[in-house]
Amino acid sequence: MKNLQKTLIASTIAIAVLSCGIAAAQPAANEKHAAWATKVRKSVFTLLGHNMGPIGGMLKGKVPFNAEVVANNATNINQLANMIAGASKVDTSKFKVDTEALDSIWSQPEDYAKKIEALVSASSELSAIALNGDEKAVRKAMGAMGKTCGSCHDDYKKD
Ligand code: HEC
Repeated sequence: MKNLQKTLIASTIAIAVLSCGIAAAQPAANEKHAAWATKVRKSVFTLLGHNMGPIGGMLKGKVPFNAEVVANNATNINQLANMIAGASKVDTSKFKVDTEALDSIWSQPEDYAKKIEALVSASSELSAIALNGDEKAVRKAMGAMGKTCGSCHDDYKKD
């Protein structure tokens, strides 16, 4: 388990470093391309929301605390977080698409990448302690991860 966690943390760091280099946006070629890119982008966030649901419920005291669910979903969130950059690469701002994404994603790519990195590392930390940390520490890491979602939404998503 320890080795697996070390590998996971090491690969997360490697991916975070790599993802800094792929900030260059690519404008959508046409309406069809923009619609597809929007669908892909939203899918990643939909799945992030799906995996965050039980963790948010536990934080609010609506769902009983379950370390295994936290560990599993934090690992899923970590993998999905690593997909955000790729799924946000196509700039759809010049097209009329059904989206809550703000154009600043493509005008401030470096800051957007920092917001992604914050979720990548917070989810990695949570998945590393979920099964062996005490509940108080795990809850703290759950809250810290949730904050990184809100922090990006504040700047890059319509209310
Ligand atoms: C790097 C920025 C960023 C991070 C980090 C982030 N989000 Fe978002 N999120 C967005 C943007 C931008 C949209 C709007 C996407 C669109 O409509 O094209 C969005 C949309 C969503 C949606 C709506 C998806 C849909 O079906 O339209 C949900 C749910 C969501 N995010 C949940 C989360 C959760 C949960 C987390 C943390 C685990 C998270 N997000 C982290 C930027 C972010």
